[in-house]
Amino acid sequence: MLVDAHNRTIRDLRISLTDRCNFRCFYCLPHGEPSWAKKEKLLTFEELEYIAAIFVSLGIEKIRLTGGEPLIRRDVPVLVEKLSRLKPSLTDIALTTNGYDFARHAEALKNAGLDRVTFSLDSLRPERFREITGVDGLDRVLDSIGIAHRLGFRPIKVNAVIVRGRNDDEVVDFARFAIDHDLSFRFIEYMPLDSGHDWSRDMVVSGREIRDAIDKEIPLTLKNTSRGSSTSWKYRFADGLPGEIGIIAPVTEMFCGACSRIRLTADGQIRTCLFSTEEHDLRGVLRSGASTAKIVEFIKAAVLKKEPSHRINDPDFVQPERTMSFIGG
Ligand code: GTP
Ligand code: 5AD
Ligand code: SF4
Repeated sequence: MLVDAHNRTIRDLRISLTDRCNFRCFYCLPHGEPSWAKKEKLLTFEELEYIAAIFVSLGIEKIRLTGGEPLIRRDVPVLVEKLSRLKPSLTDIALTTNGYDFARHAEALKNAGLDRVTFSLDSLRPERFREITGVDGLDRVLDSIGIAHRLGFRPIKVNAVIVRGRNDDEVVDFARFAIDHDLSFRFIEYMPLDSGHDWSRDMVVSGREIRDAIDKEIPLTLKNTSRGSSTSWKYRFADGLPGEIGIIAPVTEMFCGACSRIRLTADGQIRTCLFSTEEHDLRGVLRSGASTAKIVEFIKAAVLKKEPSHRINDPDFVQPERTMSFIGG
């Protein structure tokens, strides 16, 4: 078992497959071309399979593949197939994608054993979608969501980062989208993880504000009275309508006390928190030819250093150097 120094059990591994993305969302990658990780630094699928097996032997139950945009990596279904061999100890394989390329991989991913998919979608208005992401791709993302539905991925989640003055006027439309497509739409508070360091507190729309705006139009009922280790408060629509919403409020309602997550960057660094300022070079250990026992020891030592919480609200908060596209969402 992986237990940290604050008695939190780590069951959830988020693996970034690449730091690259085909979008340029302003809250993540706004400024120019970042210096991408060199190909030889990326963990290969064989390395990932090996490491994932070790993590699962240590009690990891959920693996989420993220990025950057994970589907930029070639043959992701091949990796999913390899990870599927770790079931049933591994109970859940999920993918976070911007949806632009999902449609053409959807069936292969399903057949390979992918259990769940989460899409990022920050506007339902084509022109605004282009302004936010830098790509004229709303229709493709909507198609992908439809295909995920038809192929039977459940639950389907859609994430939007809500930023004041950019898309906060769409929250009720997003809730209606959840009803119309019978899915879970999640509203995320904007966190200081953007490469431009443009984040400011007044751009954060609080979870409460979002919930109240929706509740006024479409009454909501709270579904989970405790969040457990999950990130979100879940609400169903009061009059029995399909779909649900989730409120993810890391800034105004921190959920670190029950955090069960650990991250592996595409270049093989363990990050014990989204906001870590220190990384643990698992790639180096792995490629030095270390034994499985040594790798286990390394992972356990990293977990023991997991931060008690993020410090976004502290006056001396320092934004991590790597942005979300490097860390994986
Ligand atoms: P599942 O429960 O596996 O469906 O995933 P999740 O609830 O962790 O959601 P998802 O992976 O879709 O993450 C949604 C968003 O929540 C991310 O894009 C981040 O913005 C935020 N988030 C996820 N994990 C963390 C975390 O550990 N800390 C903080 N501060 N934010 C997180
Ligand atoms: N704040 C909150 N969420 C973010 N994401 C990316 N950058 C940020 C940020 N600054 C989320 C995106 C996507 C996931 C990969 O990470 O919404 O769903
Ligand atoms: Fe966990 Fe860090 Fe996220 Fe808090 S900010 S929930 S400690 S990963």
